[in-house]
This record gives sequence, C-alpha cells and structure tokens, in this order.
Amino acid sequence: MTQSHPRISKAVIPAAGLGTRFLPATKATPKEMLPVVDKPAIQYVVEEAVSAGLDDVLMITGRNKRPLEDHFDRNYELESALQKKGDAARLEKVQQSSDLATMHYVRQGDPKGLGHAVLCAAPHVGQEPFAVLLGDDLIDPRDPLLQRMIEVREQHGGSVVALMEVAPAQIHLYGCAAVESTTTATSSR
Ligand code: UTP
Repeated sequence: MTQSHPRISKAVIPAAGLGTRFLPATKATPKEMLPVVDKPAIQYVVEEAVSAGLDDVLMITGRNKRPLEDHFDRNYELESALQKKGDAARLEKVQQSSDLATMHYVRQGDPKGLGHAVLCAAPHVGQEPFAVLLGDDLIDPRDPLLQRMIEVREQHGGSVVALMEVAPAQIHLYGCAAVESTTTATSSR
C-alpha cells in the first residue's frame, strides 16, 4: 500500500452528551462511565484508539463528566492501599487506565450536539487529520475497524465514515446515510 496522506496520530472522543436515553442511570453518572463487564465503556473506546496507534486523545467533556477525567488519572490513595495489601493484580488494573494514552480534555459548555462537540477539538487538532470515536460506541476489540479506516484515509484522503446496517424497523433510532457504491471502495462492513 502506498501512503500518500499524512499519518493520523490524534483521536477526538466526544463524551459531553446528556445521556437522556439511559435515565435514571445517567442522572449523576456519565453514560460513558457505565460498566461493561469490568471496565467503564469509555475505557474500551480509548483502548480502541490506542491499539490503532492514536495515543494523543482529546476528550470532549462537560458538566457532571468529572469521573471521566478521574478514571484516566492516577489515584494515589487507592494505589497505595492496594500496594499495602499486596494486591498486585488489582493495582495493575487501576494503573492501566492512567497509563493508556496522553489525555487532553476540553469542555463543551452547552451540549449543542455532536457536530459542535467535534468543533470544540479545533484548537487542539489544528490542520492535522484526526479520528473521531464516539464515547458511547463500542467496537469489538477483535475488529481492527479503526485501523482499516486509517489505512483507507491514508490511501485515498478525504473523510472516512464507518456505517452499520440496521433493520428498516430500527432506522428511526439512528442517524442514517444514503450511500452509493464507488469503484474506489476497498472494504465493506
Ligand atoms: P448521543 O447521540 O448518544 O447523545 O451522542 P447523548 O446526549 O449522549 O444521549 P441521549 O440522546 O441524550 O440519550 C453520541 C456521542 O456524542 C456525544 C455523547 O456524549 C456521545 O458520546 N455528544 C453528544 C457530545 O459530546 N456533545 C453533544 O452535545 C451531544
């Protein structure tokens, strides 16, 4: 594969939405912090970015989103308690999220929608290409979807969007796109 477009190194993760569809679970807890098996959902998203080589992560946050920042920061009190107990396995798990990536945060004052959230990343990304991963959208870690999107972008330039096919009866629950096949399409999902 010939690379004709600059390599992407930054990920932008909008996570400032109100999460109204999950109320009351999200009244005081950000939707992105809800646990999936043994980790908050947002950790899977940051791990997806990191495994695709994007270790500069900008998260768009807002009011009531402090737990997101805390989760990716060190927690010395907890770490020293686990050290004293000799619980190396849990200590490693606690440190994993703070060692993952270089995290940056910017606040979206009012949750004016996804497009506005992405716009809040402008001062951080400047003219560089970047990847957007939704803070509540989990991709199976065995699927290197983001890596493939980055490769398509490096080859063809422009913007690359991943879409998912849903049953017609469920279309009203999603944003949707009318798509046409082109001769340059390299993969489908
Ligand atoms: P959603 O469409 O799921 O919106 O946003 P939401 O506000 O979180 O949830 P509902 O509709 O009230 O239940 C998709 C992603 O975009 C972020 C969300 O945090 C989520 O990760 N988002 C949405 C923002 O960052 N800012 C916004 O203004 C809206």
